[in-house]
Amino acid sequence: KDYFTREHKLSGKKVVVTAGPTRERIDPVRFLTNFSSGKMGYAMAGAAAEMGAETILISGPVSLPVPSGVTRIQVESAEDMLKAVEAHFDTANYVVKTAAVADYRPKAIAEQKVKKQEGSSTIELERTVDILKQLGQQKKNQVLIGFAAETNNVTKYAKEKLSRKNADYIIANDVSEAQAGFESDTNRVTVFGKNDFEQAFDMMPKQQLARQLFEMITDKEESYDS
Ligand code: CTP
Ligand code: CA
Repeated sequence: KDYFTREHKLSGKKVVVTAGPTRERIDPVRFLTNFSSGKMGYAMAGAAAEMGAETILISGPVSLPVPSGVTRIQVESAEDMLKAVEAHFDTANYVVKTAAVADYRPKAIAEQKVKKQEGSSTIELERTVDILKQLGQQKKNQVLIGFAAETNNVTKYAKEKLSRKNADYIIANDVSEAQAGFESDTNRVTVFGKNDFEQAFDMMPKQQLARQLFEMITDKEESYDS
């Protein structure tokens, strides 16, 4: 292949990336969230745009610049994120779920600030929608890529997520490892796919890794098409 097509492997394709944490409100001044800098997701969106894709970045609250060529949609909760993804899903070729979506939200959002009281307190939680799993049930020709941040049993949990969510790829990283966590500028991942596909990547800057991940995945998808 010539240089141009290698550089623009995603031209004519639409890529939807989700990034960052979600916030689930408790009351007007408080929320539940998780550690996620958004860096890996923003790097994925930047790489997709560089490779020629029409790129939609659906982002939870983070303070990162929008990569060049990327259209960003800002969302807050898991529910908002689901709606934004749904709006672009039918026309997407690749959906990359880098976001660290909250698994639970408060069952009710208090209208007024909750006042402290003596003794302990509890917040009743309910499950949010599993966006990736829902997309996995709806998907037609979209390539679905999930991420999994694990502290232990990385391979086992990643493979379980691949099948449970009907994803095409799960990109797993061990967040207990130094320099491969949430705030880091570097990451080290292993990609799991169908038919026991498994490929480990070296530790590298997230932007470079994002590029290599898309190259690997587009090559593999092209080999299925031909
Ligand atoms: N995900 C999602 N919607 C959720 C939770 C997770 O779309 N409500 C997606 C994430 O964006 C990620 C993948 O599912 O691409 C795996 O997320 P992860 O939190 O690792 O998996 P869970 O299924 O939530 O399992 P657990 O947190 O118990 O490990
Ligand atoms: Ca989770």
